[in-house]
Amino acid sequence: MPQQSILLTGGAGYIGSHTFVALREAGLEPVILDNFANSHPAVLDRLHKLTGKPPLLEKGDVLDTPWVESVLKRHAPAGVVHFAGLKAVGESVAQPLRYYRQNVAGALSLAEAIQNASNGTPPALVFSSTATVYGDPDNVPVREDAPLRPSSPYAQTKLDVENMLLAAQVAQPAWRVGILRYFNPVGAHPSGLIGEDPSGIPNNLMPFVSQVAVGLRPHLSVFGNDYPTRDGTGVRDYIHVQDLALGHVAALKALLGGNQGFTLNLGSGRGSSVLEIVDAFGKACGKPVPYQVVARRPGDVAEYYADPSKANEVLGWQTRLGIEEMCADSWRWQSRNPRGYAG
Ligand code: NAD
Ligand code: UFG
Repeated sequence: MPQQSILLTGGAGYIGSHTFVALREAGLEPVILDNFANSHPAVLDRLHKLTGKPPLLEKGDVLDTPWVESVLKRHAPAGVVHFAGLKAVGESVAQPLRYYRQNVAGALSLAEAIQNASNGTPPALVFSSTATVYGDPDNVPVREDAPLRPSSPYAQTKLDVENMLLAAQVAQPAWRVGILRYFNPVGAHPSGLIGEDPSGIPNNLMPFVSQVAVGLRPHLSVFGNDYPTRDGTGVRDYIHVQDLALGHVAALKALLGGNQGFTLNLGSGRGSSVLEIVDAFGKACGKPVPYQVVARRPGDVAEYYADPSKANEVLGWQTRLGIEEMCADSWRWQSRNPRGYAG
């Protein structure tokens, strides 16, 4: 039987590349659609090494609807995962129009291409959403039916796309749409061959800690230690990117198996503080990670973590890896590739 093809927009990026490997291991044939706006073509050689054959690549922009339509006709994928987009909260405040263009118009372009390319049975569609759609939640753990209060243009664009896809599904019940709200993805493939490669100064905790540990930066700035949490620092639900990749495989399998759609949290259900991550990373790399406590970062929330039980019920999926593996795998990636894919 020919392998089912799965189109990954943004498949050369951090989460897309790990999902690529997981899909091949699951016997599916992923195809990467990417314009390398935030990724490095060197990832393709690494994916070749990891999976034993070269990746299929369609290089281009998801905003180019006729071209995306031609890609869909060429590969006739059974499923599409839409990773492509921009993801920095602070940048979205400074450049909101760029975020609406890339995230909302990008998803619209893909949805229109799917509509134009498919005669009757569109591919199953999985969308990368975010836990930031909940804003500052009233209660933790956060369930999917918690109030939605996006507090940045980035989060708002993700919620807008969720709503657009759900409306498309109401109008055309043949659409199967899986919305995945990721909590905080971290870690890397255990081979050390692929991982997160942020450009410039990292915004997020784990890549920053990794760069301090490898000597690229002198110390971590801990953004506040006066939050109402167990040690005063912010608490988040970190999820190993390998578990997240398997969540996408499970979501696609459910949709391909007849499930009509779902909106699910992908998280571990456990919160870790900034200082707990610093401590675990120090153990993983064999030396303490220097840090200084500074003022709170504007817009940060004290604590949130997922209630992931719906994902377990619907997909039979749950996380398996803890912060030790997240730190060990981040360190392996960072220490073997101190400057990321560029060398
Ligand atoms: P990433 O930047 O590493 O990957 C995104 C990929 O999309 C990149 O390879 C980039 O080149 C590509 N891309 C961007 N714009 C494109 C366009 N117009 N046409 C074609 N390709 C384009 O990001 P990631 O961390 O892998 O995140 C993937 C998705 O998950 C994003 O939509 C992001 O918003 C979402 N998400 C990420 C996080 C996180 O913390 N990493 C958390 C929640 C949600
Ligand atoms: N932090 C520091 N120092 C740093 C970076 C972060 O102390 O240099 C702290 C933050 O204050 C917070 C925690 O580490 O308490 C995690 O911060 P991140 O920036 O790593 O993650 P966020 O929870 O702020 O947001 C991330 C992504 C979003 C995504 C969200 C999903 O930035 O894009 O997770 O929950 F949507």
